Amino acid sequence: MSEAMIPADLPLRNDLIGEVPYGAPQLDVPVCLNVNENPYPPDHAVVHSIVERVKQVAPTLNRYPDREHIELREAFVKYLKEESKADLTVDQVWGANGSNEIMLQLFQAFGGPGRSALGCDPTYSMYPEYARDTFTAWHTAHRNPDFTLDVDRTIADIDALEPSMVLLTSPNNPTGTPLPMQDLKRILDHCQSAQVAGAADGVHPIVVVDEAYIEFRDPGTPSATTLLGAYENLAVSRTMSKAFAFAGARVGYIAASAGIIDCLRIVRMPYHLSAVTQAVALAAFDHTKEQLSQVDHLRHTREETAAWLKEQTYNGKPLQVAPSQSNFLLFGGSFDDRGAIFDQMLQRGVLIRVVGPEGWLRVCMGTDEEMRRFREALVESMRVVEHA
Ligand SMILES: Cc1ncc(COP(=O)(O)O)c(C=O)c1O
Repeated sequence: MSEAMIPADLPLRNDLIGEVPYGAPQLDVPVCLNVNENPYPPDHAVVHSIVERVKQVAPTLNRYPDREHIELREAFVKYLKEESKADLTVDQVWGANGSNEIMLQLFQAFGGPGRSALGCDPTYSMYPEYARDTFTAWHTAHRNPDFTLDVDRTIADIDALEPSMVLLTSPNNPTGTPLPMQDLKRILDHCQSAQVAGAADGVHPIVVVDEAYIEFRDPGTPSATTLLGAYENLAVSRTMSKAFAFAGARVGYIAASAGIIDCLRIVRMPYHLSAVTQAVALAAFDHTKEQLSQVDHLRHTREETAAWLKEQTYNGKPLQVAPSQSNFLLFGGSFDDRGAIFDQMLQRGVLIRVVGPEGWLRVCMGTDEEMRRFREALVESMRVVEHA
């Protein structure tokens, strides 16, 4: 697909003129390690269940789907209980077409003209786009040099900017950095009495924790969903796209107080989740164990790859690797021309991502064979660029 070619006589919103559609390159290359997917396809039993569930709904497709998607919400509750030990009710969860749509609904409900949202850079590159699309001002607090959150500065920024939403990503993309529970609690406690610019007195910011990669955390680490009983101002976004190996199905969800969910119900499109999407998601939840079966292995691959990367050198210096609790690694730190290394890797059939601060590159964990090719291509690419 070509870049956007927008005729000058179309009445595109003034603030969108010059903007281009956002998205990671979708290239036909042998080794795709650029969008943090689970590289292992659904197993045979899951494929069979998907076909059966879709067969059941196919004769009903003349009717609109259950717009409250109750059966699927029950499956989210069950999964969050099993996976994160969170005790939730159906009115505390809500699904959408990927966590991207969940985030957009949050911005539609809590952002808007006169409102602002605060994230912590470097972080997921879509957040500013949701802000732009909903006329919400987007601000970023800065992280420490090791990419952990600077909690004092973040709290000071909350006081200075009075956002309606504070967006924390754990593990963070593109750095993989987890957010310790004590840091999250400090921010949640502070937001319980913080002001929101442009809102009535007594209105306080909500804190959104984006846990897209949470299943890759070290076993035993709590999820923010376990705090939902204690904090009405908390919303935790999750997705089936990453560890759950279901990116193509486009299913994300959120766990929060019933009040926050009701706000999202105001802005959602009618029947936003198709009957087919609901059916395939339910089929995948019938096979949670199979869907998550490669998570331990991917975690192990991440640790092995991080150790290997640290042994590599570029211009005589060892590569840096950001400590990661996700299925990707941000590495390098001192690449003087990261674009050239990316290009060399691509020429060798390996697609990674130019993202994050200057000097760094991101790679997501692939199959064993894909990681072998990644290593080989990186060693060759760094040598070529060093000697260019
Ligand atoms: C931090 C983070 N949040 C949300 C998403 C959106 O994922 P999806 O819309 O597939 O659920 C991504 C995708 O890469 C992400 O990295």
